[in-house]
Amino acid sequence: MRTLLHIDASPRSERSVSRHLTREFAVAWKEAHPDGRIVYRDLGHHPVPLVTETFIAAVYTPPEARSPELRAAIATSDELISELQTATDYVFGVPMYNFSVPAGFKAYIDQIVIPGRTYAYTSDGSGSRTGLLKGKRATVIMSRGWLYRNGSPLSACNLQEPWIRMILGFVGVTEMDFVAAEGVAQLDGSNGEREQYLRPIRDHVRLKAKLRLAML
Ligand SMILES: Cc1cc2nc3c(=O)[nH]c(=O)nc-3n(C[C@H](O)[C@H](O)[C@H](O)COP(=O)(O)O)c2cc1C
Repeated sequence: MRTLLHIDASPRSERSVSRHLTREFAVAWKEAHPDGRIVYRDLGHHPVPLVTETFIAAVYTPPEARSPELRAAIATSDELISELQTATDYVFGVPMYNFSVPAGFKAYIDQIVIPGRTYAYTSDGSGSRTGLLKGKRATVIMSRGWLYRNGSPLSACNLQEPWIRMILGFVGVTEMDFVAAEGVAQLDGSNGEREQYLRPIRDHVRLKAKLRLAML
């Protein structure tokens, strides 16, 4: 069954630009797949645990040899990976924080990049790795306070998009689409200005969702 995994990483609620846009994407996706299922995970309001020593021990202990304590330590990771395996499509809403991603999104990535589960060493003995999340389509919607487009003095400081691109690629995702809502800091906070800012990006996201679906 077509399944969309919808993840928000902003700790903000109604004021969040990335949440607003992932919601638009999810609505367009559902219109195209009335029978499809949407699984939602809110990292911004319900963060996942940080890596602990027990978690690391669990990762490197074969499942059948894990104690109840180790099993408990890896339970969230298992659940998150199962969501990624089951879904056919992903939409991630990720703000830029300090030129990278919010800690809550990094904590999520630390839970799901697991040897033998989302990546594996190749059998040719070369030490190369291959991602195991094959055949997935990811749309990443990023929000940023300032401007990073080509030519901007800040363009070299954008460690958000390249890092997300790299880490999704590492776990095997090859089909990725990125949308950036930039310059959010320029909004004066009035509803009218916010609506004027959001309208074209929202249309762009809807179009992206529809074009992407039409291409399949
Ligand atoms: C802790 C924090 C750090 C931020 N760091 C940056 C930054 O480095 N560069 C930037 O352009 N915007 C930065 N911003 C602005 C956010 O990227 C912007 O407000 C974005 O819209 C947040 O996403 P949201 O609207 O979905 O919550 C930061 C905001 C916060 C709260």
